[in-house]
Amino acid sequence: MANFKDLVQIRYSCRNYSPIAIDRSIIEQLLETAHFAPSATNAQPWRVFVLNTPESLAKVRRAYNREWFATAPVVLMLCAQTTKAWTRADGKNHADIDLAILADHLTLAAADMGLATCWVCNFDAAMLSKDFNLDADCKPVVLLPLGAPATDDIPEKKRKDVSEFVEWM
Ligand SMILES: Cc1cc2nc3c(=O)[nH]c(=O)nc-3n(C[C@H](O)[C@H](O)[C@H](O)COP(=O)(O)O)c2cc1C
Repeated sequence: MANFKDLVQIRYSCRNYSPIAIDRSIIEQLLETAHFAPSATNAQPWRVFVLNTPESLAKVRRAYNREWFATAPVVLMLCAQTTKAWTRADGKNHADIDLAILADHLTLAAADMGLATCWVCNFDAAMLSKDFNLDADCKPVVLLPLGAPATDDIPEKKRKDVSEFVEWM
């Protein structure tokens, strides 16, 4: 297991996956780890769909039609149930925040297991809802392609310097 500082640097957006299948037990282990993610009022307003059949993969690949995305042997479709999420007094619903935390736990847990992922939000949400017959209160928020990386190369991280966005008051 990597220490946390190494882990956050090992995780990267992988856009080239090996076709090797990922065992169901590995995916279950990943989900067990990530399900400890916190959420507002502990509402856990999420549904996770593990897409690993030719039919479900064909559907999700239509909604995010990129050559690299189709190399991933598994895609996790993370959906938010806004009616189950906490809403602040000023009306702000926290489902997307909760889903982002779950997604972050999943990407880091996957990296810890030697697997690669990539956050994907630029998909056709209406197409996913229709093709997977999702309930009105089950909105796709993030797609996470999951698999073994095709290469061992980890791209260099490009980030602002901490001093550019932190202000001490
Ligand atoms: C909310 C969010 C949405 C993203 N959507 C996409 C996407 O639709 N397609 C894509 O290729 N990458 C997407 N990314 C990946 C970012 O481009 C990537 O995280 C960023 O460039 C930093 O690179 P790194 O993840 O390798 O550290 C997304 C990332 C986040 C956090």
